[in-house]
Amino acid sequence: MNLHDLTQRVIQIAKEAGQFIRTERRTFNYQNVEVKGLNDLVSYVDKTSEKMIVESLAIVLPDAGFIVEENTKSDIKNYNWIVDPLDGTTNFIHGIPCYAVSIALEYQGEIVLGVVYEVAQDECFWAYKNGAAYLNGQKIQVSQRKNLSESLIATGFPIYNFSRLDNYLEVFTHLMKNTHGIRRIGAAAADLCYLACGRVDAFFEYNLNAWDVAAGALIVKEAGGYINDFKLQNNWLFGKEIIASNDLLKVEFGSLIQEKFKLNS
Ligand code: IPD
Ligand code: CA
Ligand code: CA
Repeated sequence: MNLHDLTQRVIQIAKEAGQFIRTERRTFNYQNVEVKGLNDLVSYVDKTSEKMIVESLAIVLPDAGFIVEENTKSDIKNYNWIVDPLDGTTNFIHGIPCYAVSIALEYQGEIVLGVVYEVAQDECFWAYKNGAAYLNGQKIQVSQRKNLSESLIATGFPIYNFSRLDNYLEVFTHLMKNTHGIRRIGAAAADLCYLACGRVDAFFEYNLNAWDVAAGALIVKEAGGYINDFKLQNNWLFGKEIIASNDLLKVEFGSLIQEKFKLNS
């Protein structure tokens, strides 16, 4: 499989879905919002975007399975597409720019290709395994900041699982007092890509799904960054907790998450 060529095709597919999302945003009416669960929203835009992406990807790799957020059901195969058809639905619904299409390809537990198309800013981030990371065709790299005291941190606030809220708030207190600040961008895929291109220096969140992080995490790695779960192990894809940073911050940031989430052995 030629990952470079495959990535170019996936970029096209992500941009077509993104164009649909952009067009719908112009006339989007709040009456189209459905509630999936507490603070968990969806609309026909997410579902149609998914349908478009799945149909196109099935032509590109007919033997691959799908792990996707909305309606598509599929067996797990050797190769699996991991897709969030609209990451940042709450932003989209409320008309706040920053929502993205996220498509990754997983092979034997490893992400080998990732594309995140941030629709509102027309920014396409992509990477494939051992091929560097790009934003609109330009190579990107994580920042070189060495200390949390000079860093900007991205995160997502818990919205329906509050089981670890106290620990989360402890991290928050520390970051508020000891960094340049915290950003809640509203789309985990964009959080990771903003880390990959050096806009923010570290990111953490719990209760994310594989489709939120698969593509963005590969883009971070290929941009020279580091990804782990809260226990500083490798279970970030399906383990529902992720930390990411540039390489220089990994010890300081990792220790902070371990300490505040009481994971020190
Ligand atoms: C959400 C976004 C958000 C994160 C949420 C996710 P969705 O995805 O990535 O940043 O904090 O937990 O569920 O629902 O907009 O695809
Ligand atoms: Ca998502
Ligand atoms: Ca979504």
